Amino acid sequence: MTMEQTTMSKVSLRGTVLVVDDEPAICWAFRNLLESNDYAVKSASSGEEALEIVQQGAPDLCILDIRLPGMSGLEALTELRKRVPGMPILMMTAHGTMDAAVEAIRLGANDYLTKPMDNDALLGQVNNLIKQTKSAKLPHHDNLDLASSGDRTLLVGRSPAMQEVFKKIGAVADSDASVLITGETGTGKELVAQAIHRYSARAGKPFFAVNCASMPETLLESELYGHVKGAFTGALRDKPGKAQAADGGTLFMDEIGEAPLSLQAKLLRFLEEKRFEPVGSTESVQVDVRFVAATNRNLLTRIKDGQFREDLFFRLNTICIELPSLRERKEDIPLLLACFLERIHREMGTPVAGVSKSAIELIMRYDWPGNVRELRNAITHAAVVARGQRIQDEHLPERILRVCRGEATESGDALERLLREKTQQELDALAERTEGEVYDRIIRIVEKAILETTMERTAGNQVKASRLLGMNRSTLRKRLEIFEL
Ligand SMILES: Nc1ncnc2c1ncn2[C@@H]1O[C@H](COP(=O)(O)OP(=O)(O)OP(=O)(O)O)[C@@H](O)[C@H]1O
Ligand SMILES: [Mg+2]
Repeated sequence: MTMEQTTMSKVSLRGTVLVVDDEPAICWAFRNLLESNDYAVKSASSGEEALEIVQQGAPDLCILDIRLPGMSGLEALTELRKRVPGMPILMMTAHGTMDAAVEAIRLGANDYLTKPMDNDALLGQVNNLIKQTKSAKLPHHDNLDLASSGDRTLLVGRSPAMQEVFKKIGAVADSDASVLITGETGTGKELVAQAIHRYSARAGKPFFAVNCASMPETLLESELYGHVKGAFTGALRDKPGKAQAADGGTLFMDEIGEAPLSLQAKLLRFLEEKRFEPVGSTESVQVDVRFVAATNRNLLTRIKDGQFREDLFFRLNTICIELPSLRERKEDIPLLLACFLERIHREMGTPVAGVSKSAIELIMRYDWPGNVRELRNAITHAAVVARGQRIQDEHLPERILRVCRGEATESGDALERLLREKTQQELDALAERTEGEVYDRIIRIVEKAILETTMERTAGNQVKASRLLGMNRSTLRKRLEIFEL
C-alpha cells in the first residue's frame, strides 16, 4: 500500500483535517494527536499554501492559526470561507482578549481554540464540527466586511465562560435582533453592548445609551423620545431624543429592569414598530435602530412581582447574553490585573512594580461582589497608595482586607456595599465629564424605595406613613408628588 492509499483509507474513517501553522512543532503535535485518533492530516505553513491545498479538494475541517507570516490568519479565514463555504474552520488564537476571537467568529470561523490547548477539548471540537457539517449544511456569515477598528475598549477574559460570551458577540453582531445582556453589577454589560455595536454593520453609526434607572418617568420619556416645544414647563423648543439620535445605529437601554411600567408599554410598541411619538406630539417618528438592553435584575422575578411586562421581556429576550460573575471565573483575575496595571501605568503615568504574592492570594480569595469594576477600582487604589512600589496587602482597600481577615462579612453591609457600587457606577458613567448629579441620582433611588415600600405597607395612607417614617406629613406629600407615587 502506498502512503497515499493509507491516507485515503483514513479519510473514510473520520475525515481529513488541514492544519495551518507556521511553527513546524505545532503542526507536528496536531498531526500526532489527530492521526492517532484516526484523522488524516494535511499541513500548510501559510495562508497562501492552505489556499492551494483546498484547491485540490476540500478537507473536512481546517485548523487555522490567527498569526501567520504573509497573509494573516483572518485574511486566510476570509478567503477560505469564500472558496470553500461549507468547510468548518477552527481558529487558534493565543490571546485572552476578545478582539481576535470575536473577529474570527464574525468572519465565519465556526469556533476557536486558545493556546495552550487541551487535547481532549480539541478532539471534542474537531469531532463535533465534522459531524455537524456532515449532517447539516453549516450556516456561515455572508457579510465579510471588516468592522472599523478605532479605539477599542477590550473585554478581557480567558475563562471558558468569557470565551462563550465572545463567541456570542461575534455570532449576533451582524443580525438586527435585539439583545438582552444580563449579569451582576460590574460584570461588563455596557462593554458588551458597545462591542455588539462595534462589530455590527452599524459600527459607523451612532451608539446611544439611555439609563432607565436614572430619572423620573417623564424626564426619561423625553430623554428617549424627545419632546416638542411647550410639551411641559421648561420645554422651550423641540428637542429630539436619543431614539432619534441613534437612527441607523444602536440604542442601548441600560437597567431596563427599572423602566417604569407605563414606559414599558410604549417601549414594547417602539421595539415592534420602531416608531414613537415625541412627548407632546401626535406625529410619530420612524427610526431604524437596533436595540440592546441590559439589566442586573432578575427579570423573571420582576415579572412575577408585576413590575415588568412579560411581553416586553419576550420581545427583548430574542438573544440573551449572560455575563458570569467574577467569582465564577477567578482564573481571569491575573489577566485582568495585568491589563489594569498596564492601563494604570499608561493613563496615570504611575509606574507599578507588580503585585506581591500575598496580595495576589488575597485578591484571588476575595469574592468581588462588585465584579470587574470593583477589582479595577481596588487595584487602581492600591497602585496609587503603593506609589511605584510593589503592591502589598496593606495597599488594598480596607474593606477588602477586613472581609479577607474575616472581620467583616459580605452580607453584613450589603446595602452599604450596593450603594458604594452604585456610586462607583455613576462616577464611571460620567467618564470624562467633570460635572454630574451623582448625589441626587442616588439619593432619589434610595428615597423612592423607602417611600414606595412604606406607602405599600400603609396601603396608601399618608398619615400612617408619615408617622412610621418620622417625616412631616406635608413633606411626605411633596416628596410623593415628586416621585409620582
Ligand atoms: N471583561 C472585562 N475586561 C475588562 N474590563 C472589564 C471587563 N468587564 C468589566 N470591565 C470594566 O469594569 C467596569 C464596569 O463595566 P460595565 O460598566 O460594563 O459593567 P456593567 O455590567 O454595565 O455594570 P452595572 O450593572 O453596574 O452597570 C468598566 O470599567 C469596565 O471597563
Ligand atoms: Mg452598566
